[in-house]
Amino acid sequence: MSEELDLARRIALVTGASGGIGSAICRRLAQDVAGIAVAYGSNAEPAEALAAEIVSGGRAAQAFACDMADSVAPGQLIDDVEAVLGPVDILVANHGVARQARYEDVDAAAFDHTLAVNLRAPFLLARRVLPGMRERGFGRILFMSSVAAFRGGIISPDYAASKAALHGLAHFLASRVAADGVTVNVLAPGLVETAMLPGDPQQLAKTTPVGRVGHPAEVADLAVAILRNGYITNQVFSIDGGTYPR
Ligand SMILES: NC(=O)c1ccc[n+]([C@@H]2O[C@H](COP(=O)([O-])OP(=O)(O)OC[C@H]3O[C@@H](n4cnc5c(N)ncnc54)[C@H](OP(=O)(O)O)[C@@H]3O)[C@@H](O)[C@H]2O)c1
Repeated sequence: MSEELDLARRIALVTGASGGIGSAICRRLAQDVAGIAVAYGSNAEPAEALAAEIVSGGRAAQAFACDMADSVAPGQLIDDVEAVLGPVDILVANHGVARQARYEDVDAAAFDHTLAVNLRAPFLLARRVLPGMRERGFGRILFMSSVAAFRGGIISPDYAASKAALHGLAHFLASRVAADGVTVNVLAPGLVETAMLPGDPQQLAKTTPVGRVGHPAEVADLAVAILRNGYITNQVFSIDGGTYPR
């Protein structure tokens, strides 16, 4: 196996790992990497349980709390992870806040909160890990967007805007670090069955061409395929059951 495909020595940080998609990515990634930082916001229990499960499978893991609304916390998280597990080679900025609201009801504070969590924090995490990745000549960054970035979606204007902005962020960063062995990509899922799903999965499935909502494991499969590949960078991948062809 080539150096690029072999993640066996690598340490990954997955944010939003107490949630549906993040935990699925951790489980799938644990088959490939040396260790995983399982980052969560306020739900310690599932993150601690997941870290224990990964450790029992023979890989290093630890759960780390981090409130992504706080501008200092992302940098502190990387410091904490690197002190315990070593340098972060793979960053999956997957956490996200999604509060369903009409545009008339989103005030400045609500808008700023969503942008802080969904956009500023991924940037601060990437900014903090990139120098080490470039120095080591290897790095993977994956941002978690949404089909809402393309279509507006059914959550809120601030949510759609925050996800669309991640695409611009990835494009800006990817072109600057590509020659140093660092890839930067984006995944844009459609409806996926997690706690974030805004409504009954059976009803929502009717709006999806394949006739069902997605499984977190399907998103995780694609995430890991992207992370394993050193020749994919500066791309936005949709995984949405055919909702938005492009
Ligand atoms: N499910 C879908 O249909 C869908 C579709 C498109 C995109 N996505 C995206 O996929 C990603 C994962 O979502 P999910 O579906 O797995 O939802 P989920 O199960 O609700 O997970 C959301 C995760 O984000 C974390 N989070 C939220 N606010 C945070 C904060 N202030 N600081 C730190 N962590 C915070 C949560 O941590 P705690 O619970 O520990 O606070 C949780 O781990 C999100 O970026 C979401 O926008 C989801």
